[in-house]
Amino acid sequence: MSRPDTDISTSGGASESARRREVMIYSRYERFWHWSQAALIFALLFTGLGLHGTHDLLDFKLAVQIHTYAAIALILLWLFTTFWNFTTGQWKQYMFKGGLWKVIRFYAYGILVGEPHPYKKSLQRKQNALQSLAYMTFMVIIGPALWLTGIVYLTYDLWNTAPWSAEALWAIALIHTIAAFAMGAFVIIHVYMTTTGKTIFHYVKTMITGYDRVELSEVEEAYIEQTGMVDMKK
Ligand code: HEM
Repeated sequence: MSRPDTDISTSGGASESARRREVMIYSRYERFWHWSQAALIFALLFTGLGLHGTHDLLDFKLAVQIHTYAAIALILLWLFTTFWNFTTGQWKQYMFKGGLWKVIRFYAYGILVGEPHPYKKSLQRKQNALQSLAYMTFMVIIGPALWLTGIVYLTYDLWNTAPWSAEALWAIALIHTIAAFAMGAFVIIHVYMTTTGKTIFHYVKTMITGYDRVELSEVEEAYIEQTGMVDMKK
């Protein structure tokens, strides 16, 4: 189900009359692309590290095959999700937000002494400032570095006779590997962050069911009840 593009939120914060309700904040498509992207990235990281020589758990030829098919599937998924983000207005969720330092301070210190999270989730503001920055880095630097170098790598047979091919292959493999390790670091931090909710599995459950408790103003609640634009539990 798509979410309304119109701004029905109270600028992301709690208002006087805000009430917490169980609302579907991740639509079926969002959950589908999230989990399929995760599975493909794990497959690419595992097979890629096999190709790099970090482990020898897979036959080289099989690793190349899985890596190539998973890469094509991931590129198609990224293309379609980019289209979806723009047509549903969800791209706005990824824009830079203020309050970055407060979120960094919370994860470095506040979380250890039981301070409340400095950010309140709302329908129009599902990510905190640090999440938006991390996902933006993922989408505009790490992702493109991987698929651009990966596609050039795939077409090696077309340019392997050029006099510069050895140096070019070396540079392409180096950038691809650096980006792959950056992606690996992103995944580790991302998985750790998923455990910092109310309970260890709270965020994972949200990404499976789609529902989370968010603060809604009376206006938002009435709007959702009347239009049924977003699924809300009674
Ligand atoms: C998204 C599109 C991607 C494409 C088109 C792609 C393509 C390729 C190709 C063609 C190779 C060389 C295989 C060979 O030796 O024959 C390769 C290697 C590799 N890939 Fe990818 N890949 C992609 C994404 C990823 C991702 C997401 C990761 C990890 C998170 C990754 C990690 C690696 C690693 C570590 C290597 C070995 C590099 C080396 O040591 O030379 N790749 N990739």
